[in-house]
This record gives sequence, C-alpha cells and structure tokens, in this order.
Amino acid sequence: MARAIEWIEPDGAVGVLRLLDQTALPLEERMLEISSVDELIDAIQRLAVRGAPALGAAGAYGVVIAMQQAAREGWDQQHLADAITRIAYARPTAVNLAWGARRVDAVRGGGMELVLLEAHAVAREDEAANRELSRLGADWLLATLGDRPLRAITHCNTGALATSAWGTAYGILRELHDRGRLEMVHVDETRPLLQGVRLTSWELQRDGIDHVVQCDGAAASTILRGLVDFAVIGADRITANGDAANKIGSVGVALAAKRAGIPFVVAAPYSSVDERTATGDEIEIEERSDAEVLQFGGVSVAAPGVRAFNPAFDVTPHDLIAAIVTERGVVEPSDADVPLFMTETTRD
Ligand code: MRU
Repeated sequence: MARAIEWIEPDGAVGVLRLLDQTALPLEERMLEISSVDELIDAIQRLAVRGAPALGAAGAYGVVIAMQQAAREGWDQQHLADAITRIAYARPTAVNLAWGARRVDAVRGGGMELVLLEAHAVAREDEAANRELSRLGADWLLATLGDRPLRAITHCNTGALATSAWGTAYGILRELHDRGRLEMVHVDETRPLLQGVRLTSWELQRDGIDHVVQCDGAAASTILRGLVDFAVIGADRITANGDAANKIGSVGVALAAKRAGIPFVVAAPYSSVDERTATGDEIEIEERSDAEVLQFGGVSVAAPGVRAFNPAFDVTPHDLIAAIVTERGVVEPSDADVPLFMTETTRD
C-alpha cells in the first residue's frame, strides 16, 4: 500500500514529514521532506498531499513542524499560533485539515513529545476508521444489492493516497475485492487535475483490481446504460443534514445514480463530518486557478483571454445519497430534512 504521508526520524536527526508527491504520480514516485510551515502550505495548495483524511494528518503533523520551526527561529507564541492557523486553512473545503490541526494544537501546552504522540494518533485512528468503514460499507452494499460480484463507479481518488492508509470509498472497493465481490470499477478521470486517471488507476493497478478509466462526461451514460451496480465516492465535508462536498463532478454522478435507481454511497471517516455546519449551502467551495482548466500538460488549449470557472468541489444534497458510511455506522439519508449528525463534544 502506498504511504502518502509519514513522520520519519532519520538516525540522530530531528523528525521530518515525508510526503509522496502526488503531482508527480504515476510517472515518478518522488518523495518530499517537509520541515517548515511554508513548505507544508505549498505542498497542500499544490496538491502534493491531498484528499480530506490525508489533509487531516497533514494538519496534525503541521503543528509539530510549526513548533520545530518556532524553536529553531525563536518565534513568539503569537507567531506560532498564526502559523498553525495558516496551515489549518491552507485549503478551505475539507474539514479534516483544520480539525487535525486544532486537535493537535489543543495539546500544545503539554510539549513537543505529547504533540507528536497526538499527531501519530490522528494518523493511526484514520487508518483504523477507514478499515472499519470499508467493512461496514461492503456489508451494506452486499445486503442491499445481493451477495454477488458488483460493478462500481467512483470519482476522484479516495485510496491510500488520500488518507493515512487504506482508503475510504476506495477502501470499500478493496474490501469487496478481497471478498471476491468486485467485478470491476469504472474510474472517472476527474478533471481538471486527473486524480482518477493518475492516482486511483495507479492504486487499482497495484492492487490487481480490474478497472477502466473514462472521461468524466461518460459517467452519466455509463450509469444510465446499466454498466454499474452502484456509485461510491469520498467526502471532504459532510454537514449535519447529510449533504456531502466532494470533488467537482460528484453531484452529476449522484443525479444519474438517482435516475437509474442505483445506490450512491458516500464513505468517509467521522473526522469528515462537520456537525456544526447545518447544510451544504454553508460549505466554502475552493476555487482554483484558471490555468488548471485552460491548460493541458502545461500547454494552453484555449484562445488567449478566455476565462475559466474552476470550483474544486461540489455538494451532493442528502436526498441523492443512499448511504453515508463512517466507522460509526451506516446512515441512510432520506428526503426528510432532519439532522443526521448531532453536535458532539468531540469537536471543539
Ligand atoms: O482536491 P483533492 O484531490 O484534495 O480532492 C479530494 C477529494 O475530493 C476526495 O474525494 C475526498 O477528499 C475524499 S478522500 C478520501
């Protein structure tokens, strides 16, 4: 399994955050060693590290990096707090980033050793959550669709690369495959940054899982032609009423799945649930540069002066979602506007 994010402590040296640079995949497996706040923010914003749960771990280890830099450079407490805030909000949509940073920041008073232990706990718990939700998701799908090999469609990348380990929606595919219940997967290419064709396909190939890659524009037709039995995606933020933000293009898959009468499943660790936000309308959607849409492989494909609209995420309303799977269980949203996730003391 690929390791997207890992804390390493080379012999005798201070620890650094090692990232698998996802901008270089699948052509090159390039590692980055991150030891400053600006390096980490740059890696997050370039999507060298990406995917909501992996961003949660990046936020958590970011507090360690900020404390190390503060000690090296003699920052005062305010400078350190500001640096942690900059990490927490380096990208706005995935709630996990700020959640991971805030959770570890809360133990900062206990010193570096405690902070590092808490960051390790964030990463460790993410893997455990992903493995559990994968079991629950596979159980739900086989109970709903029948105990038989299933064909899936997925969007973006939700595998080990997007998490501390294992994967979310991808973890369910992995679990079905291990049980001999996954026939094949349709992978949306996921414009504009191609997480599907570059990353999901790379992971599926390494795991020996049969799949085809298709243009995002093929998704609705694939579903309406009956070529898949279910759709499964991850989430960057799930609000209290069950609306789910995920990579741009997800809501189109959900609409087609609803029309075709196949389940559209959202899978995420509970750290992606934002109980304090009532509905998806309140989620800040990251807008990225025009160049990501107007260029292909660094070469402009549009006439000079053309402008782009490049939201990185969309929101799927809960009534299009058949099941939300977290490590805490499976929730089946309905048309009724009832809060599905209640505010808990576990979130500050
Ligand atoms: O812009 P990205 O690549 O960070 O977007 C990632 C996604 O939309 C994922 O589907 C989501 O974070 C879930 S990852 C388990």
